[in-house]
Amino acid sequence: MKEILEQLEDKRNRARLGGGQKRIDAQHAKGKLTARERIDLLLDDDSFEEWDMFVEHRCTDFDMEQQHVPGDGVIIGYGTINGRLVFVFSQDFTVFGGSLSEAHAEKICKLMDQAMKVGAPVIGLNDSGGARIQEGVASLGGYAEVFQRNVMASGVIPQISMVMGPCAGGAVYSPAITDFIFMVQDSSYMFVTGPDVVKTVTHETVTAEELGGAATHSSKSGVADLAFENDVDALEKLRHFINYLPANNREKPPQWPTEDPADRLEMSLDTLIPNDANKPYDMKEVILKVADEGAFFETQVSYAKNIISGFIRIEGSTVGVIANQPLVLAGCLDIDASKKAARFIRFCDAFNIPVLTFVDVPGFMPGTSQEHGGIIKHGAKLLYAYAECTVPKITVITRKAYGGAYDVMASKHLRGDANLAWPTAEIAVMGPKGAVEIIFRKDSGDAEKIAARTEEYRKKFANPFIASKRGYIDDVIMPHSTRKRVARSLAMLRNKNIENPWRKHGNIPL
Ligand code: HXC
Repeated sequence: MKEILEQLEDKRNRARLGGGQKRIDAQHAKGKLTARERIDLLLDDDSFEEWDMFVEHRCTDFDMEQQHVPGDGVIIGYGTINGRLVFVFSQDFTVFGGSLSEAHAEKICKLMDQAMKVGAPVIGLNDSGGARIQEGVASLGGYAEVFQRNVMASGVIPQISMVMGPCAGGAVYSPAITDFIFMVQDSSYMFVTGPDVVKTVTHETVTAEELGGAATHSSKSGVADLAFENDVDALEKLRHFINYLPANNREKPPQWPTEDPADRLEMSLDTLIPNDANKPYDMKEVILKVADEGAFFETQVSYAKNIISGFIRIEGSTVGVIANQPLVLAGCLDIDASKKAARFIRFCDAFNIPVLTFVDVPGFMPGTSQEHGGIIKHGAKLLYAYAECTVPKITVITRKAYGGAYDVMASKHLRGDANLAWPTAEIAVMGPKGAVEIIFRKDSGDAEKIAARTEEYRKKFANPFIASKRGYIDDVIMPHSTRKRVARSLAMLRNKNIENPWRKHGNIPL
């Protein structure tokens, strides 16, 4: 018996060593942790239950029958983060470069199937050279099996990809379907075709980092939601992030204890809006002052900064925030901002997270690049996302809400549940200057007349009361009471229950 137990322990130790000490050292030399070290940091101490430690590949080509590493380059299992169940797979770059064989894919699929059965998030720690070249089409089949599961799990359980090394070729499409992609600076990259192919086909010279590093994807392409400094930072932040999410689409978001009173007043908000309507201010200040303990987990921080997205808590429960940022492009809605916000809203809606919208938007961004880039179709994504959303929707207009952008930003007409405005709100078809230039074009040579007309228009329309008269705004509130009013609205909406008409699925303008 003792001998058998020792044999088991030997087998386990062999699996734990992955591709061997030399390759582990090489991994460390690149500033990367090993697949196991990552799981240890991500999960609560001693909570990891590993599955399929002894799975091996079945390839016999290219001398592969001589090369077997138990586990076959991916560690799978489940454990807890702050006591809450999650499923994890962690690709082991020290074993065949973390490449995906048929057996490797089967392990990931098994994990995903199990996560779907019990309703818990799947976290993928990606670090892989892509399809296992020696296996050829069997590996491609494996990828497609994973993709299919990614799609079936979408909107049912949260799926999170942490890209911590290479992720190239078709392999990028599994993370691409997941809800959030995080990357690690300087050690991770994602691209469909690498720098060599790019050079051959388009004659461009580009490094892997420029083409698909964390900075590129978190600021230019918007593929990644956030870029973290290193593995340790990334895994710590991921633990915080998971705290905001419900385990599946049938659960409400988790409730965390808070000492922050729901009726806390923030007098400084009464002086936040500058007297000059063209002067910007930082909308993040409003978000931080409304949130429990001023905690805000911002997503896509460096992408489409004219709109802010992320999670806060109010009375201990998660709320998704979308806010125009007057500091960037005056808070205009453009293609990138529309896509960023639409995707975030749809995540919240799928997972029962109320959406709180702060509005200060002069309109959609004009220009040929926007029109030719399809602002019509992309702007419609945001409109569609708000309109189909059935979770509680609370809107606070702090200043401008002009034109189509007024409609789009969770207006009453798109089933906003509680639509509040600060007294500084300006809700109209367009800003005073633009309006006067059009309706009093005949006076355009007379600066005095135009100024008088503009002032007249401002007094008449640049306020929240015309909209309030029609009930488009439920109340005009003191800025200092925003947290209290939002908290009360959320409490009132706790059991909100509406359903969209039955259909196979809608046809969001993609
Ligand atoms: C088998 C692989 C591998 C792969 C790496 N290795 N990628 N083995 N299949 N795809 C092995 C290497 O042979 C090496 O083994 C070890 O992993 C480490 O690789 P290195 O090249 O030494 O590491 P590094 O210099 O850091 O370079 C990493 C890399 C490079 C950039 C990822 O390995 C690379 O270019 N790999 C091939 C990438 C690729 O073309 N993949 C297929 C893409 S097509 P030893 O024994 O020496 O340690 C694809 C299609 C998916 O993925 C389609 C889905 C629909």
